[in-house]
Amino acid sequence: MTPEVLIVGGGMIVHDQILPSLYHMQRQGRIDGITVCTSRFETVQTLTDAPAIRRAFPGQSFRMLPGSAGDRQPELYRQAIAEMPPRQIVVAAVPDQLHYDVIMEALRHDQHVLAVKPLVLRHQQSVEIADEARRRGLLVAAEYHKRFDDRSLMARRAYREGRFGEFRLGTACLFEKWYYRHSNFQNWMTVEHSDAFTYIGCHYVDLLHYITGLLPAAVSVYGIRDRFPNGSEGYLWTDARVI
Ligand SMILES: NC(=O)c1ccc[n+]([C@@H]2O[C@H](COP(=O)([O-])OP(=O)(O)OC[C@H]3O[C@@H](n4cnc5c(N)ncnc54)[C@H](O)[C@@H]3O)[C@@H](O)[C@H]2O)c1
Repeated sequence: MTPEVLIVGGGMIVHDQILPSLYHMQRQGRIDGITVCTSRFETVQTLTDAPAIRRAFPGQSFRMLPGSAGDRQPELYRQAIAEMPPRQIVVAAVPDQLHYDVIMEALRHDQHVLAVKPLVLRHQQSVEIADEARRRGLLVAAEYHKRFDDRSLMARRAYREGRFGEFRLGTACLFEKWYYRHSNFQNWMTVEHSDAFTYIGCHYVDLLHYITGLLPAAVSVYGIRDRFPNGSEGYLWTDARVI
C-alpha cells in the first residue's frame, strides 16, 4: 500500500525541497495523494501557482488546506491529521518552535513523521518523541538532506578511505547571504524561538557525525543579538563548539 502524505507548512523549504521531492516519489509510484496544510489559504495558493514546480511536474497537484480564503487557521493541521487513516506520513515543515506540537499530534494519531531540522528545540522533547514513537511502532525521521550534497558524500568517502587521517579538530564557517534577513525568517527566527546555530548550524553537528561516524558529546553556543529589517531581534551571529 502506498502511503498518503500530509505536509504541514508551505513556506520556502516546502517549495524548494519537500514538495518537489514528494512529487518525484509520487511519479515513481512510491507515495499516494499529497495534502498541504498551512494556516493561511494564500500560502497554499501561492505554492499551487509556483511556476517552477508546475513546469517540472505537469499534471501533478496537491489538495489545499485551507480550501478557500478566510481567517488564519493555525490549528487546522490538527483536524487534517485526525482525518487521515492510521500509519500514513506527516511532514512537519513549520517554523522550528512548532515542530514539537506537529510531531506529537501526528504520533497521537498513529502517523509516521518526517520533520525538517532541527527536530525540536529541547533535548527532553526528543526523548519524549522517541518514547512515543517506539511505543506505537512508528518512524520519526529528521530530514537532513545536506547529507546528500556531493561535497558531503565526497568528504565521507575520503574520510572512510583514511585520506583525512583521524579526526581531531576542525572548523567550519558559514555566512548566509545578506538578503536572507529580509525573508520570512524575520517573523519567527527570533530570540524567543531559535538562533542562527540551531537553525543552520545543526547541519554541521549532523555532518560531523555523518562524515566521521563520531557522536557529538556536547554542544554549546554563544549568540549575539541583532535586529532583522522588521525590527525583531534574533541571534543572528552565533559561534558554537561541538565536542
Ligand atoms: N536545509 C534544511 O533542511 C532547511 C532549510 C530551510 C528551512 N528548514 C526548516 O524548515 C522549517 C520551515 O522553514 P521555511 O524556510 O520553510 O520557513 P517559512 O517561514 O518560509 O515557512 C514557514 C511555513 O510554516 C507555515 N506555518 C506557520 N504556522 C503554521 C501552522 N500553525 N499551521 C500550518 N502551517 C503553519 C507558514 O504558513 C509557512 O508556510 C524550519 O523549521 C526550518 O528550520 C530546513
